[in-house]
Amino acid sequence: MSTASVEAASATGTAWHPSSWRDRLATQQPQWPDQASLEQVRKTLAELPPLVFAGEARQLQSRLAEACEGRAFVLQAGDCAESFDGVTADSIRDKLKVILQMAVVMAFSAGVPTVKIGRIAGQFAKPRSSSTEVVGNVELPSFRGHMVNDINFSEHSRTADAERLVRAYHQSASTLNLLRAFTKGGYADLRQVHLWNQEFIAASPEGQRYEKVADGIDSALRFMAACGISTDAPELHQVDFYTSHEALVLDYEEALTRQDSITGQWYDCSAHMLWIGERTRQRDGAHVEFMRGIKNPLGCKLGPSASPAEVLELCEILNPDGIPGRLTLISRMGADKVPETLPPLLAAARDAGHPVLWECDPMHGNTYTTDGGRKTRHFEDVVKEIDGYFSAHSEAGTWPGGVHLEITGDDVTECVGGAEAISDDDLERRYETMCDPRLNGAQSLELAFRVAERLSV
Ligand code: PEP
Ligand code: CO
Repeated sequence: MSTASVEAASATGTAWHPSSWRDRLATQQPQWPDQASLEQVRKTLAELPPLVFAGEARQLQSRLAEACEGRAFVLQAGDCAESFDGVTADSIRDKLKVILQMAVVMAFSAGVPTVKIGRIAGQFAKPRSSSTEVVGNVELPSFRGHMVNDINFSEHSRTADAERLVRAYHQSASTLNLLRAFTKGGYADLRQVHLWNQEFIAASPEGQRYEKVADGIDSALRFMAACGISTDAPELHQVDFYTSHEALVLDYEEALTRQDSITGQWYDCSAHMLWIGERTRQRDGAHVEFMRGIKNPLGCKLGPSASPAEVLELCEILNPDGIPGRLTLISRMGADKVPETLPPLLAAARDAGHPVLWECDPMHGNTYTTDGGRKTRHFEDVVKEIDGYFSAHSEAGTWPGGVHLEITGDDVTECVGGAEAISDDDLERRYETMCDPRLNGAQSLELAFRVAERLSV
């Protein structure tokens, strides 16, 4: 047994290995029709270079520790499901622009450092409530994300194809390459804040409000220079931007799990941070088993059925040493349920002394289908859940550590409401998501202002 396996074993009583999840029930896994192809793909992936490095994951964990201790706020945002199609440099850049804008609004208005994490460069797999979809009298496997199958409703498209795991890896690598260039190569320089305001956003009320923030940043930089304070610090010219996705398809995650040469510990090098979804967080399930042994910072979603006892168990299994920043619990209760469902969970972790970083996902508990058959969310429900989340933390004396959002930089019409008052009828105009509805660029910025207002009080 390696040192790392022994260490994990001593915490829980059983040995951990990147493949020990195979002894547990793994729900939400694709039905791969061709096992030989899957085996080949696992070998291919295991030989490919890591996408991220252990040292970067450790750096993120220390930033998350600051958020856990109330000294920073996390903005985790991106697509519900990334696509293999139509991914251009422009679409990646525009998503990054909106995230940078949101982070600036929060940091400038509230004076709290923002840790930026994308749901990006790996968010290709989706859990489904039903494993099949029926249209007319045809029943086919559900779409499970581009890592698994295609969205078109045909037998060929919906058949799981293991080769897609390799494509997901390469697509993640090229997305990550571009993100690294944008964030370190001058584009994220604070002197460029005006450039992040895309035309369609700049024309909206929140875009104009953003311009005022950007002017304020210009003045602050000029003032610092006039005082003789150097503005050469790298923090002003580049940003740290981290990647994350739901660790759902365990064959993929296992193949990218590597032993760090410096510490000997295991890291899942498919992303900096990984999370467990609401449907796969069973304490004795395969996902929890896999995640407890990797040393990346972890997230776990918590829906309205989560009990205080489950929260304590998850803390003990996923963060037995109580390391701040190691475990983020992401509540997604729904706007109406948050006042009654969240406080007992906050109290349980607080009273047991577990260092939990709390995030609010105000998206997944607020989805509904319109009469026209579109899945949507109302902007005001999203804001209401965030308000309930802030209030619950304020009453519990805990820190509302961050938000977890589904957004895009594009001018889509998928969520209703917001300053532009997108209506049910507008949804037909630009409804482009492959899975859940995302806030568009203007709605995302508007939400950032609403979050900043809560952070400032
Ligand atoms: C998601 O984050 O896209 C998702 C499926 O969330 P949840 O597991 O909370 O339903
Ligand atoms: Co989603």
